[in-house]
Amino acid sequence: MIKKLLIPFLLIITAGCQNRSLDEVGLITDKAMVVSAHPLASSVGNEIMLRGGNAVDAAIAVQFALAVVYPDAGNIGGGGFLVLRQQDGSVDALDYREEAPGDAHRDMYLNEEGEVIEDLSVKGHLAAGVPGTVDGMVQLHEKYGTMPWEELVQPAVLLAANGFPLTAKEAEKLNENQDDFITYSTRRPEFILKDNWEEGDTLRIPDLAKTLARIRDQGRAGFYEGATAQYIVDEMKRGGGIISKEDLANYRAIWREPLTAKVGEHNVISMPPPSSGGIALIQLLTISEDYPVDEWGIKTTETAHFMIEAEKRVYADRAKHLGDPDFIDVPVEGLLEEAYIKRRMRDFSMDSDTDSEEVYAGKPAAYEGAQTTHYSIVDPMGNAISVTTTLNTNFGALVFVDGAGFLLNNEMDDFSAKPGYPNTYGLIGGEANAIAPGKRMLSSMTPTILEKDGDLYMVVGSMGGSTIITTVYQIILNVIAHDLPMQGAVNAGRFHHQWEPDWVLSELGALGPGTGLQLWLKGHKIAPNPRGIGRAAGILVLPDGRMEGGADPRGDDAAAGF
Ligand code: GLY
Repeated sequence: MIKKLLIPFLLIITAGCQNRSLDEVGLITDKAMVVSAHPLASSVGNEIMLRGGNAVDAAIAVQFALAVVYPDAGNIGGGGFLVLRQQDGSVDALDYREEAPGDAHRDMYLNEEGEVIEDLSVKGHLAAGVPGTVDGMVQLHEKYGTMPWEELVQPAVLLAANGFPLTAKEAEKLNENQDDFITYSTRRPEFILKDNWEEGDTLRIPDLAKTLARIRDQGRAGFYEGATAQYIVDEMKRGGGIISKEDLANYRAIWREPLTAKVGEHNVISMPPPSSGGIALIQLLTISEDYPVDEWGIKTTETAHFMIEAEKRVYADRAKHLGDPDFIDVPVEGLLEEAYIKRRMRDFSMDSDTDSEEVYAGKPAAYEGAQTTHYSIVDPMGNAISVTTTLNTNFGALVFVDGAGFLLNNEMDDFSAKPGYPNTYGLIGGEANAIAPGKRMLSSMTPTILEKDGDLYMVVGSMGGSTIITTVYQIILNVIAHDLPMQGAVNAGRFHHQWEPDWVLSELGALGPGTGLQLWLKGHKIAPNPRGIGRAAGILVLPDGRMEGGADPRGDDAAAGF
């Protein structure tokens, strides 16, 4: 009976309701491009480059603008990762991930029976890690910025003070979250409370404008010291949180060496731990080298089956081996060793699925050592930056810092609250990602840059919690194996497998006619995701040196450039 019901359901998924064109070409520009989750943020970044700023200057301005116009994930109360490639080919990576407060401990989300207390790591004050965004932007500016700091923060100050029109999607999300904002903030955040927000309504955030003005005038001290720090600590005390003044004073973003790997004719540059994104993406692309994905084609049973099986194995590795490299030994070289990666597919069969229970993390060579948003920028000099930043889930911990006008992250949920217990994305972690004071929680953020023949080729990344990695993987394959333009590659339907839970999450229309049924006959369990997987921002450098932007139609995303 169940089988009879499943068949029409699978046909619906495969037939697809999604009508986004795979051939669509995005905005083409000659010199510079910004693609972000919000048209106002993209235009702020574009304006900075028109005034002579470089990609880093634009990125800083976009980060602060998103903190105003895209409060679901843009932030100053969260963190992120970025990878950059300068015009001369040199690369760098910045980890401005949040970290566990000094009073955090590994069992802080467990009750007396040792069971995880539902939602404690997701909603409310205890869910927040020490924010990293402002120190990240300050350090980025010190190392690579060319324009005065004040000029980069000022557009966000004006947006918060003067207000901006809500898009239909933003209005809807604010409406959906009104009750939670009241429940989880200790004082009513009046500026964001309204019976019914509508498209075009103006949202003004005066307290946030004052906080941004302090950051503009005092840099790092405008957030980690003085009035803003006091607002955060007062909010923590009222709401039972544990972030202290010392935690704020001690926070520092960390420059890290990006991961680089040659995969076929491309050089992949991506984020190292504490994000899992770079390792997982490189593993997936390396595995794909051995299979004729281009011949199988997009949306086919062969391609989808192969990708799903590769994803299971890569996410099993993620769960066991990855965490903050400043606290545990992460076997980065072993995990990226080509022979190791290829061994992982030894038990792969084209005919049937491998149950996740039968997929285990591999044994790499000896240890050596959800809501988010992404933006991609290339400047007229040829510098490129790929930035993923987050509060974790939509609107983070749902806690507004009273008096300071911004939301705190709920990034503590990215730790493993208890070995084997799934987090909000269903991801399972172990010892490597256990909570410890000052430790950074494992991430899936995958800010990535690709080179081809030694030149800049693609800047790409996505939001989407655990689905970020597979979204970036799919988009890259859509371009390099399936020859789609950047916009078509971003438009294309997405599917995702993360080892546990053992199902394929699939957007409607992500699979070709009959593919869902064929996958099911091979043993895959398919779960539809009508809300969409990931939201990506890509820039592709064309053979004639111009650029094409890929802005995600799943959101309000927009490309701008000249
Ligand atoms: N908070 C989502 C991630 O970092 O993967």
